[in-house]
Amino acid sequence: MALEGANIFTAVAKQAVNQRGNFSVALSGGSTPRLMHRMLAEEPYIFENPWDKTHLFWVDERCVPKNNPASNYGNAKRDFLDRVPIPDSQVHPMSCDQTPEQGAKKYQSEIMNFFRPKAEGFPVFDLILLGIGSDGHIASLFPGQPAVQEKKEIVLAVKGGNPDVNRITMTLPIIGHARHTVILASGEEKAAVIRSVFEEDYVPRMPAKKLVRSLGM
Ligand code: 6PG
Repeated sequence: MALEGANIFTAVAKQAVNQRGNFSVALSGGSTPRLMHRMLAEEPYIFENPWDKTHLFWVDERCVPKNNPASNYGNAKRDFLDRVPIPDSQVHPMSCDQTPEQGAKKYQSEIMNFFRPKAEGFPVFDLILLGIGSDGHIASLFPGQPAVQEKKEIVLAVKGGNPDVNRITMTLPIIGHARHTVILASGEEKAAVIRSVFEEDYVPRMPAKKLVRSLGM
């Protein structure tokens, strides 16, 4: 799965740079993507990827210090960012700032300034990499939380998950507008939720299902 993820990352990056001159990608946190992240700093990916034209964002972040093992940015930095030639100015970590709400507003502006979408439009990432929780959450969009229903704001402050902390998260409108959206999942405990999302008709209160439905699947 990690190898497949690294191959998809690289293929989409090359295609995006060929077609539009740069590659915009948003990473998830948690444990699932870490092996893939480490692979990106190894051959052949370290040489294959157009790092100088890559712009890296996060799907969500926990409001913890960057050296905290729960920090999605901190883990990505340790796993590959410190070892690939991506310009610092092209790495866009989320920061909870003085408050998570202020951090979310700032990140929303950072994304809008980068993409400058047409009026009423949503920014379109080339690739959004998601994990999934056994409860069907994606990003930090947890079942039953209002953020799951958000239709306008592309970044919100929330609280929940494991660890149950303040977080900043992208919302479904921006996640569902990416050119490529990938859910990485492995292991028995994820098999059940993947089956629900992709094979069962109606699954209440499952953000991943809401996303997949919005993509017409
Ligand atoms: C987060 C993640 C979250 C994660 C899932 C799966 O910051 O918590 O973005 O959405 O992808 O919780 O986590 P694992 O990969 O650790 O199972």
